[in-house]
Amino acid sequence: MRTSLKGRDLVSLHDLGSDEIASILDEADALKRRHRQRSEEPYLPLAGRNLAMIFQKPSLRTRVSFEAGMYRYGGHAVYLGPEDIQLGKRETTADIARTLSRYCDAIMARTFAHQHVVELAQHATVPVVNGLSDRLHPCQVLADLMTLRERKGRLAGIKLAFLGDGNNCAHSLLYGCAKTGVHLSLAVPEGYEPLADIVTEAREDARESGAELQVTHDRDHALDGADAIYTDVWASMGQESEKQVRAAAMRPYQLDAEALSKAKPDAIVLHCLPAHRGEEISDEVIEGPRSVVFDEAENRLHAQMALLISLIS
Ligand code: CP
Ligand code: NVA
Repeated sequence: MRTSLKGRDLVSLHDLGSDEIASILDEADALKRRHRQRSEEPYLPLAGRNLAMIFQKPSLRTRVSFEAGMYRYGGHAVYLGPEDIQLGKRETTADIARTLSRYCDAIMARTFAHQHVVELAQHATVPVVNGLSDRLHPCQVLADLMTLRERKGRLAGIKLAFLGDGNNCAHSLLYGCAKTGVHLSLAVPEGYEPLADIVTEAREDARESGAELQVTHDRDHALDGADAIYTDVWASMGQESEKQVRAAAMRPYQLDAEALSKAKPDAIVLHCLPAHRGEEISDEVIEGPRSVVFDEAENRLHAQMALLISLIS
């Protein structure tokens, strides 16, 4: 594995080179193969390493994949929930970052304000990994890219359609696809487009890979020729009060059997989970043969451990 990532942060996929993303995905594939083989030989690249995990929001996948992954590879994870450290309330983010750096080898943080992750990274002397902020979800997209490559055999040149809200996952997909040559078409209702600065920056990233990044209101245009379709909840954590108005706007973008029929016949279905069946995705589609959502969830662990091994082992 290349060592160029040692000591770095992962706040955004924009900060990684396409070769660095490829190297994390290769290592993630190797970790997955090794785990499948149930090798008797211990492989403990994170022995003695501690990960602090800050959560301002709930989590199943992020918490368990980091915690189980640290244990699997010889390390340990410390869970710090919303009431434990009260990020930005009990003491400053800078003081938290500097204190945790004295105990732990890396910090993973799930926050509301993206600025909290940025500040942690500025002040910590150990790597900081973004475990989801209101703006981005880079760890999710590493697992998504791994899943796409696993199923489609390549990334460059395939087409991914995203239906629904131009949210944190959509933003990280823009960067991740831009870096790896995946053509991404985001079909979103008016008023729910991804942030313009992210689209602009991702399009700059895409110049090298040739990825085409589209934002449209036309669902069928996004789905046409798609090798994979992705959706996510219509109201993200922190937007619960907007649930109804968002649902009304996004209903035409539901990933149901009719929408699926507009993509390629072998198109696969991704969802970062948790899923709201009957809202952004129908029960039939998420439970159907084209759905790879649990492989995608599993790949969170492999991708994140590949990342951590490259940052701190
Ligand atoms: N996809 C994802 O990040 O899931 P959790 O919110 O359960 O961590
Ligand atoms: N967009 C969702 C992703 C959950 C993993 C949210 O932020 O709640």
